[in-house]
Amino acid sequence: MRIDVVTLFPEVCEPYFSASILGRAQSAGTVEIVCQDLRSFTTDRHRSVDDRPFGGGPGMVLMCGPIFDAVEAIESQDPRRATRILLTPQGRRLDQKMAGELASHERLILIAGHYEGFDERIRVGLKPLEISIGDFVLSGGEAAAMVVVDSIVRLLPGALGDDESSAEDSFSITAGDSEQCLEYPQYTRPRVFRDMTVPDVLMSGDHGRIRDWRTQQALERTKSRRPDLLPDTNSDGGEDLSNDG
Ligand code: ADE
Repeated sequence: MRIDVVTLFPEVCEPYFSASILGRAQSAGTVEIVCQDLRSFTTDRHRSVDDRPFGGGPGMVLMCGPIFDAVEAIESQDPRRATRILLTPQGRRLDQKMAGELASHERLILIAGHYEGFDERIRVGLKPLEISIGDFVLSGGEAAAMVVVDSIVRLLPGALGDDESSAEDSFSITAGDSEQCLEYPQYTRPRVFRDMTVPDVLMSGDHGRIRDWRTQQALERTKSRRPDLLPDTNSDGGEDLSNDG
């Protein structure tokens, strides 16, 4: 898989992508992540990427030219078909299912904006998938791009040391009939810490009982903290995440 991130601040994203699981996934050849400096796709003397909004108002708006040029140039660098993604609080909210779906794409191009917003013709002309990481406004899309990339790359086969471990994450675990659940409580040594003890079942060596206990705990935790994840209230988006739809 190849992921390009178009940003005005490649130096913000690069260290994150080089560390830990993402760094290892790149060294292993599982994914290639390229931070592309939006300013390198400008053509004027001042390397402008933004301008004042028509009609007046505060802030600056990212111009079409550099973004279209960046996307088209980056797409021509690799024959694999790319899915274009715009990071914006107006987008569809990222969840585990979306991350899993995007992990099956061969190429992604993420566009991280800054300033007041994007010229609307970027949406109309490039038809990107629009993704939000939550109902709040960040000063730029970089942090959102890092979140999206991280959530995808850790799902790629071989990205985690133990292939099983992403299947047991919160939101991935299947408990009973529910598709999505919070993770069960975890413990490690010591067995007693400041009068708090590890549940006996985890020390029993009975893997059937341990599995049942974990399933039960995951369900109870989900019911009390995130009842919206459970099937009766959980509406399945199930949308197509290609740029065609
Ligand atoms: N850019 C600014 N805020 C954002 C958010 N919540 N999600 C994605 N991109 C953003």
